[in-house]
Amino acid sequence: MSVNEPTTRLVILISGRGSNMRSIIEAINHQQLDARVAAVISNRPDAAGLEYASSQSIPTKIIDHKAFADRESFDRALAQQIDEFNPDYVILAGFMRILTAEFVEHYQNKLINIHPSLLPKFKGLDTHQRAIDAGEKEHGASVHFVTAELDDGPVIMQAKVQVMPDDSAQTLAARVLEQEHQLYPAAIQKLVNVKQD
Ligand code: GAR
Repeated sequence: MSVNEPTTRLVILISGRGSNMRSIIEAINHQQLDARVAAVISNRPDAAGLEYASSQSIPTKIIDHKAFADRESFDRALAQQIDEFNPDYVILAGFMRILTAEFVEHYQNKLINIHPSLLPKFKGLDTHQRAIDAGEKEHGASVHFVTAELDDGPVIMQAKVQVMPDDSAQTLAARVLEQEHQLYPAAIQKLVNVKQD
């Protein structure tokens, strides 16, 4: 290993498109994030993001939740696979599974999520439509530590966008996603900096 090789190891979990995963990998490739992706793991065999990870020579694994009898056994198998890659941080990037308290506790202070709202507002799904319906002037995305509560836990960084009068959920989602792609690598770099202090 060269002296300058990043030592902070990330395991990224995805369920689908994986555009946030991609933004993290691109930030690393452009030396904007001092970390390495040890593996990308998906709970869905058809997650589009897997192809991009493979094209970057990053190991990929599939742990299909449908093959498990219950949430506990899936989470245990997932944790076992993650731990083989010995990560400093486990990065949820559009990983659409509710995690057991046991799993969350196992990764205390290491489990990070991005959520498309200005937490604590709009936990859960359909965040963009709900922000419009609530007449919000500002909306955005949050990167946070994961705790046992859904979309909860200390916020690491947020990015804001203005809600325009003619916004639909789609136009707003697109603007927030653009911000997410800047926000997630920056928030992880913030953690790396703290770790190196
Ligand atoms: C992102 O907008 C992310 O914030 C959201 O899913 C999308 C995944 O897109 N996550 C959540 O809603 C988690 N509660 P991606 O697969 O292209 O990164």
